[in-house]
Amino acid sequence: MDPNSSGISQRLAEAGQSHLLQFWDVLSPDEKAELTLDLQGMDFKEINGFFKSAMKMSSNSKDEKMDARMEPVPRDVLGSVTRDRDSLREWEAAGLLCISQNKVAALLLAGGQGTRLGVSYPKGMYDVGLPSHKTLFQIQAERILKLQELAEKKHKTKCSIPWYIMTSGRTMESTKEFFSHHNYFGLDQKNVVFFQQGMLPAMDYNGKIILENKGKLSMAPDGNGGLYRALGGQGILEDMQQRGIECIHVYCVDNILVKVADPSFIGFCVQKRAYCGAKVVEKTNPTEAVGVVCKVDGHYQVVEYSEITLATAEKRSSDGRLMFNAGNVANHFFSFSFLKDIVEKYEPKLQHHVAQKKIPYVNEKGQMIKPDKPNGIKMEKFVFDIFQFANKFVVYEVLREDEFSPLKNADSQDGKDTPTTARHALMSLHHRWVLNAGGHFIDENGRRVPAIPRDDEAGSVTLAVNRNLKDGTDLPIKCEISPLVSYGGEGLEDLVRGKEFHPTLMIDESGVHELVKNGV
Ligand code: UTP
Repeated sequence: MDPNSSGISQRLAEAGQSHLLQFWDVLSPDEKAELTLDLQGMDFKEINGFFKSAMKMSSNSKDEKMDARMEPVPRDVLGSVTRDRDSLREWEAAGLLCISQNKVAALLLAGGQGTRLGVSYPKGMYDVGLPSHKTLFQIQAERILKLQELAEKKHKTKCSIPWYIMTSGRTMESTKEFFSHHNYFGLDQKNVVFFQQGMLPAMDYNGKIILENKGKLSMAPDGNGGLYRALGGQGILEDMQQRGIECIHVYCVDNILVKVADPSFIGFCVQKRAYCGAKVVEKTNPTEAVGVVCKVDGHYQVVEYSEITLATAEKRSSDGRLMFNAGNVANHFFSFSFLKDIVEKYEPKLQHHVAQKKIPYVNEKGQMIKPDKPNGIKMEKFVFDIFQFANKFVVYEVLREDEFSPLKNADSQDGKDTPTTARHALMSLHHRWVLNAGGHFIDENGRRVPAIPRDDEAGSVTLAVNRNLKDGTDLPIKCEISPLVSYGGEGLEDLVRGKEFHPTLMIDESGVHELVKNGV
């Protein structure tokens, strides 16, 4: 237990981190045991090396703009749900075939801390306030169930989509417990595989590890690019190999609209024989702070908004669209062989990015300090850092309103990416599914609600239903369709065609329900 006899003191001294033991004498036996355990498992030389190279990369890239080195995504590697409508069915069929052959896995990135949302539990457990009160985890699990069913029906064979869920030290136990408590939402437990990403200490600007309190280091997950190290270290690649997985769909926990294991995206990537693919949404506003997928010095990468000048951000192609418009939504395809190469060959070449943060710490006097400006860094790798290594890379453009609405922040007035915006995005998508399948909505006076709210005399009744009277913004019709009924809007005609519904409309496995009308 004694840090001198265990060799910890010496390792710390050699790495210039001896301050981590400065409160050793005042720690309780339990605190000492815990700190020893934490320190024993750490490679301080490696951490110091990460710090040096991350700081170097950060200072090199600070003032360097990428503009001159950038090229937009060429049309021949781009698939688009709007521009290539004729190919969509073919891609979807190719994806469903792969799924039916048990070749497709979904991989969920759920190791983040969700600091901005500000809840103490994993983000996937969040209920955004849908009529069903389903959590993000449940919605995703049910999409997987439905997709398996669609592939099984089409190809008359049983199949499964294994779901690999990456958590971190902070989210692992509660995530597992939640799934077990909810009986894996109907999925086969052996097809839900949890694994844990690594953690790294927060450091001050001089490379000293920060103490959160007298006996505890300030630790944070090593970024969603920590995925690759974790895949290798925890036998996940072997598990994929044993199952015969050939395609992996990697996505983030916080996108309520995510099409988990999207067959069209997978089919497109497979037909293009891609090693890696990125789903993107069109960036339409030059100043939107979103990273764009493009080529830099001939290699694909995501360039952040801060890395280019406004002039480049505003450049347009001959079709009038922004030239750099492939907005990254952290939604990727990997072939198994490429993923294996990343883990085995390329991961060590990836450098950590620096995120400056306000990190609570204990000062030399033992006082707890909550800084009001950044006082140190967290080091993170990003999931898209490996694009550069893919010899065959493709980009798949989808509609933002159909597929992307992330939950990042807590609800606030005019907030972006909040529980409210996520809930509205899902209900608005489901509203459109009902309209497209031939259903209609009626207001409390029995009048049909037009698909697009009108602002004229005749539409004034609509306003009461469809508009937020406080600020005049559109409110979606309250409508929710269980993923167990429809994965992407299919299969609704028999349920809704030619019928009129009062919101709140809920369609689930037990049927079609009008919640308000029935006084629910
Ligand atoms: P974000 O970068 O938005 O982070 O993650 P976050 O943790 O959700 O939220 P903040 O920044 O603390 O408020 C994008 C996706 O990457 C995952 C998250 O779980 C989310 O799905 N992620 C992030 C990880 O899996 N590991 C990490 O270390 C960081």
